[in-house]
Amino acid sequence: MSQKISIVQLIEDLERLEGEAASDITNASDKKSLENLRVQLLGKKGRLSQVLGSMKNLENEERPIIGQRANLLKNSLQELLAERLQVLKSKALEELIASEKIDVTAPSSGKLFGHRHPLITTTEQIVDLFCGLGYEVKEGPEIESDYYNFAALNIPEDHPARDMQDTFYLNNNLLLRTHTSPVQIRCLEKNPPPIRIVAPGRVYRRDAIDATHSPVFHQVEVLAIDEGLDFSHLRGTVLAFLKSFFGDLPVRFRASYFPFTEPSAEVDVQWRGKWLEVMGCGMVDPSVLNGLGIDPERWSGFAAGLGVERFCMVRHGIDDIRRLYTSDLRFLEQF
Ligand code: PHE
Repeated sequence: MSQKISIVQLIEDLERLEGEAASDITNASDKKSLENLRVQLLGKKGRLSQVLGSMKNLENEERPIIGQRANLLKNSLQELLAERLQVLKSKALEELIASEKIDVTAPSSGKLFGHRHPLITTTEQIVDLFCGLGYEVKEGPEIESDYYNFAALNIPEDHPARDMQDTFYLNNNLLLRTHTSPVQIRCLEKNPPPIRIVAPGRVYRRDAIDATHSPVFHQVEVLAIDEGLDFSHLRGTVLAFLKSFFGDLPVRFRASYFPFTEPSAEVDVQWRGKWLEVMGCGMVDPSVLNGLGIDPERWSGFAAGLGVERFCMVRHGIDDIRRLYTSDLRFLEQF
């Protein structure tokens, strides 16, 4: 006959099992070890089954007592296992989220990123300053017709000004625009005055390339037409603009000639002891307004064309315009 087991001993077994199981469950660190634990405790050959197996050695009236306690223990272990599983699942999710988080403030990997070309940033600075004065940004095509580039700007076919702005001619009276002034005409055609526009863009001339000239360069056109505008408005606007761009560099206005402005001036800034021309400007010639059906007795205004390369060179101390076009990273990385 097998050794008689006492009910007291079984109760102790159950209590020990309960205590150990509870701490094992709380210590289970992942789903897999929790599942192993479940099998060890509640499986067919698990610890609880072993206790129940010993019940056959008890007295008949003792069995239900152990049976009931064993059942209660089984339920509470199942609950503990389920709770722990929940905790482990949310912990795993939190870890996943933490590991996938992108820290946008972390220092970069040191990869080389591109950046804007100094000519682009200079153009933007110029345009921004005029936007601050209430001008609207406009653009026009680089392939222009003879009409917009010359004729409408008071430069008829045999005019000597055409020699100064010789360009690359295409078929059908088309050409590469020599300045951004055709944008003046295109805008005035569409929007009657009052009008204030600033128009950046690339322009072309038949020019040999040297330290200060290039057959392709960039301009920003400025046009303001309103009632009562006169030369003092032109001068005030240009001086205010140059002061905010260059600070206190000396500036001078020089009388000049453009077929589409009267009077006309060129503006120089003093740089490295020499005067450098940075823009042409003037009061819009009444014949240009007449050609567009705008009454010059009522409307007047001024226009200016700025050479972006020159602004960029003075701003950054660049002595040769060609550096701006050769895409040499050793040069460009300085900006
Ligand atoms: N378009 C002229 C040039 O390129 C500059 C200019 C613009 C002059 C507007 C007067 C008014 O030389």
